[in-house]
Amino acid sequence: MRGVKIVGTGSALPSRVVTNDDMAQMVDTSDEWISTRTGIRSRRWCAAGESQYTLARDAAKRALDAAGVAPDEVGVCLVATFTASAATPSAACLIQRDLGLAEDTFCLDVNAACAGFVYALAVAESLLARGGKPCALVVGAEELSRVMDMADRTTCVLFGDGAGACVLKAAEGYPALHAVWGSRGNGEALAAPGVNAARDEADAVCPSYLTMDGRAVFRFATEVLPRCCAEVLERAGVSASDVDRYVFHQANKRIVDVAVRKLGLDPAKCAGNIDRTGNTSAASVPILLDELVREGALGSGDRVVLAGFGAGLTWAGCLAELA
Ligand code: ACO
Repeated sequence: MRGVKIVGTGSALPSRVVTNDDMAQMVDTSDEWISTRTGIRSRRWCAAGESQYTLARDAAKRALDAAGVAPDEVGVCLVATFTASAATPSAACLIQRDLGLAEDTFCLDVNAACAGFVYALAVAESLLARGGKPCALVVGAEELSRVMDMADRTTCVLFGDGAGACVLKAAEGYPALHAVWGSRGNGEALAAPGVNAARDEADAVCPSYLTMDGRAVFRFATEVLPRCCAEVLERAGVSASDVDRYVFHQANKRIVDVAVRKLGLDPAKCAGNIDRTGNTSAASVPILLDELVREGALGSGDRVVLAGFGAGLTWAGCLAELA
């Protein structure tokens, strides 16, 4: 059976930088509160002319260029998101148009919130195993600033906009992703509006803005993140020290710190970027992955655990190798 490797990565962040001091002009908060509780110092929000879709497209183009893969080698295009600029056509179909992907490309948006990018990698691996074209373009892209209540200090300080992408290439002899996943049908801990939100304001599962029970999410995340990583390592038959990097969803530095401690990992292998991005949901794993590749912290032959968790409640993890 064909396995997969990552052959290229890319990312795109909006131009507008919003610091914690900027946030303190908008709501009753402070740099001290935000940075000690979350590790966030600034985040990026879309400015005029930028959107979930433009970020997704730019990250996808950069990943394709970095991979040196021609559009007609791509048989799968997936975009993980819960803040798509349009409900339909999917962002994946628009990327197909703008990047000139072939008509027989499998194009689909995937919603598993902050676990979405890793879910999409697992879907791409399954589709590539069927044979056919060797490459999949997998994108995570969010514009969370569109669904935040800018008067609610308990949520608006946490989130940012951005997109990241990678190209998976399948070949005989390449490794499996050993992906694991799970979900726990829950509409209370974390929820965001859908297209009918304005008509459903009375429905607690469909609020007008993103709502969150921060403590419940914290408890959930610190339980599932270490467990899901341990399951990936066990399925892959590797020890924690065999892995070159851990790329965890950047929701809160304290959540990552708990996972690092529970798993006994080397903190130097688990560095994050939440200080500069905030929580970008489905985009956070591929943005961090691309940063590590661009700064030379990850290269050919390296193995990386990717793991996300979020609304749903969902979680997913996998082990990927760089070509
Ligand atoms: N600035 C100042 N004070 C604040 C702010 C703020 N931005 N937000 C809340 N407070 C206040 C609260 O009102 C509360 O005040 P009170 O004690 O007078 O009532 C106090 O700070 C403590 O509030 P808590 O909610 O108990 O603070 P906690 O220490 O739990 O930290 C946090 C909150 C950072 C949200 C934490 O619970 C957390 O990180 N949870 C996980 C969140 C997360 O990861 N979400 C996303 C995951 S899924 C996804 O990515 C979509």
